[in-house]
Amino acid sequence: MPPGWESEPLPTMSHISPGIERVLEINRRALADPDEFWGKVASELYFAQRVGPAFERMDDPPFGRWFPRWKTNLSYNCLDRWIGTDLQHKVALHWEGEPGDRRTFTYLQLWKEVNRFASVLQDLGVGEGDRVTIYLPMIPEAIIAMLATVRLGAVHSVVFGGFATQALADRINDSKSKVLVTADGGWRRGKIVDLKGLVDPALLQTPTIERVVVVKRTGQPVEMDADRDRWYHEVAPTKETKVAPVMVEGPHPSFLLYTSGTTGRPKGACHSTAGYMVWLYYTTQAVFDLSPKDLFWCTADIGWVTGHSYITYGPALRGGTMLMYEGAPDFPSPDRWWELIERYGVSILYTSPTAIRGFMRRGDEGPKRHDLSSLRILGSVGEPINPEAWRWYYEHIGARRCPIVDTWWQTETGGIMIAPQLGLARYALKPGSATLPIAGVDAVVVDEQGRRVPPGERGFLTIQHPWPGEFTTLWGDPERFAQVYFSRFPGVYYAADFAMQDADGYFWLLGRADEVMKVAGHRISTTELEHILLLHPAVAESAVIGRSDAVKFEVPVACIILKPGVPPSSQLREELLLHVRTNMGPIAVPGQIYFVEKLPKTRSAKIMRRLIRDVVEERPLGDVTTLEDETSVEEAKRAYLELKSELERVPK
Ligand code: WT7
Repeated sequence: MPPGWESEPLPTMSHISPGIERVLEINRRALADPDEFWGKVASELYFAQRVGPAFERMDDPPFGRWFPRWKTNLSYNCLDRWIGTDLQHKVALHWEGEPGDRRTFTYLQLWKEVNRFASVLQDLGVGEGDRVTIYLPMIPEAIIAMLATVRLGAVHSVVFGGFATQALADRINDSKSKVLVTADGGWRRGKIVDLKGLVDPALLQTPTIERVVVVKRTGQPVEMDADRDRWYHEVAPTKETKVAPVMVEGPHPSFLLYTSGTTGRPKGACHSTAGYMVWLYYTTQAVFDLSPKDLFWCTADIGWVTGHSYITYGPALRGGTMLMYEGAPDFPSPDRWWELIERYGVSILYTSPTAIRGFMRRGDEGPKRHDLSSLRILGSVGEPINPEAWRWYYEHIGARRCPIVDTWWQTETGGIMIAPQLGLARYALKPGSATLPIAGVDAVVVDEQGRRVPPGERGFLTIQHPWPGEFTTLWGDPERFAQVYFSRFPGVYYAADFAMQDADGYFWLLGRADEVMKVAGHRISTTELEHILLLHPAVAESAVIGRSDAVKFEVPVACIILKPGVPPSSQLREELLLHVRTNMGPIAVPGQIYFVEKLPKTRSAKIMRRLIRDVVEERPLGDVTTLEDETSVEEAKRAYLELKSELERVPK
C-alpha cells in the first residue's frame, strides 16, 4: 500500500441500519432461488424466446449457465427496445472530442448508426460467432462498432487504444479476428495518437485479418492498403439500412476482453450474452440508481471492462443518457472535467481513485470555479480508494451531498460485485470500503486452506456461487480458465484479491494477491511486460514489479540484465522506454529501469518479486530464506543507489 494508507483507523458503526438489512435480504433471496430472482429481472428485458430455466447448474467451471435456452440480442435491448417509445428522441450520447468538437445522438440516431455499421461488417462477411477486433480512440464509433458487432451475433474484442503494436498483434492472433476496426488517429493532450501507424506493423503478424475498417477522426494522411483497408465513410451506406438483430442463446459469446494474468500471454475473458446483459441491467440501477432523467459520465476508456459495461451497455439498457469524452483530463486546462460536468449537467460521475488523487494534488480551486451542483452520485472503481481520497472526493466534488459508491469488480465478473446499492437502500458508508455484495454474490473471505476467516482478518476473496455476469471461459483455453480461477479453492471462484470483512459485514478490498500490477487503474501483467522487454536485442533477462505510488497506486519498475558486452547507459534506458511505449503501449512504460547483474530468484528459478519490491521501496528485506544467492540483493540495492544518484543529476 502507498504510504499513509494504513494510518487511518477503521471507522466503526454503532448500529445496523434498516438499509443494510434490505440489501442483505435481497442478496440472500437471489442466492436462495437464482432461477426465480434472475428470471424476474430478465422479464423486464426483451427475449425472442424463453425456454427452460434462467439458471442451470453445471459440473464443470464456472459451475453454472444462465438462460441457456433463452434467446435475445444485446443491441436490440440497448436500442431497438426504445424505438417507438417516449425515449426514441431522447439523447443517448453526448460526445465531446478533445479539440472541443461535439456530437449528439438520440436513441433513434444511435440505432440508425449501429444499423449502418452492422451492414458494413455484414458486407465484409462478419457473421454469428466471428471475432471483430476494435482498436479505436474514445469516439462514438467505438460504441457504435461494439453494438453493431453484437447485433450480428458476432464477438467483439476491443483493444485499449493505449496498447501498441505487439500487444495489439498478440490479442488479434489469440482471438483470430477477421476484421479490424480502427481510426486514422485520436487526440490526446493536443497531439495525434497515430493509431493506423501502430496498426500497420501489427498486421504484418496477423494472418487472420481480412479487412480493416478505418474511421476518419483526425484527418492526417495515413497509408491505406488498397486490398485490405477501407475508409468507413466510403463503404458505409448512404441510404437508410436496417440489419436484423440476430437472436442468440443466452451463453452465446458477446465479447472477449483481454486482461492480464500471471503469464505473458493475455487472457481473453469471454462473456455471455444474456447473463451479462441481465447483470448490467441490474447493477446499473442497483448501484447508480440510474434512470432516464440522469446524465451518466463514466470516464473509463472503452478498451477496459468499465467502458464496456458502464459506457456502452449498462446506461443504454436503462435508457440513460451518457457523456463520453475523448481526451486527457487536464487538457487544455486542468478544469476540463469540471467544465464538462457543468456544461452538460452530469448527475452521476464514475471514475478511478488515480484520477481523484491526481485532482487532489492540484487542490480544490478547479472544482470550486465551477457549478457542480448537478452531481448526485459519485463512483469509484479500478483500485482501492484510500480514505483520504474518498473524503476529498466527497467534500470537494460532491460538496458533502453526494454518496460515494466504491465499486469492486473485475474484467472477469462482467459488472459490479460489491458496492453501496443506492438504488435499493441508503445506509452508512465507510470511506475506503466497497460495503456489501450485490444480489446473488456469495463473497467469502478465506484463508490459505479455503476456510472462512473471522471478521477483521485479512484473507483471499472468493465468490462461492455462480452469478449472471460471470465470464464463461478464457477464449480458446478452458484448461487455463479452470486452473487459474477454480483450482486454488476447488469449485469456487478465486478473485486473486486480498480482502477483509469487518464486524458490520462490510468488505474492504486490499489489493491483488498475485503478480498483476494496477497502474492508474489499469491491469498490467508483470510477465507480459517482461516478455516485451525481452524482445529488445540488448536484454538478456528482466524482472518487473509494481512499485507503490501515491497517485497511480502502482508504477512498473524493471530490473534488467543486459546481454554480455552491452554496456548500461542512460541512452539505452531511454531506448528501452521507447521500446515499451511502441510495443506494449504508454501505460506500461516503466517508471524506472535498473540495470543489474543478477536477479533474485527462488531455487526453482522463480523471480522473487516481493524482494525486489522491498529493495525498490526502501523497505527492510522480507523473508530471504528461499533466495538463491543473497548477493543479488546487494547488487539490486547497489544498482538502486547508483541509479538514484544518477537520476538526481539528471534535470527533470
Ligand atoms: C482488479 C480488477 C473493475 C473494473 C476495472 C478494473 C482492483 C477494482 C476495486 C475497488 C479495490 C479494486 C482489484 C481487482 N479493483 N475495483 N473498488 N477497490 N480494488 O478491472 O482490470 O479487471 O481489475 O482491480 O484488484 O482484482 P480489472
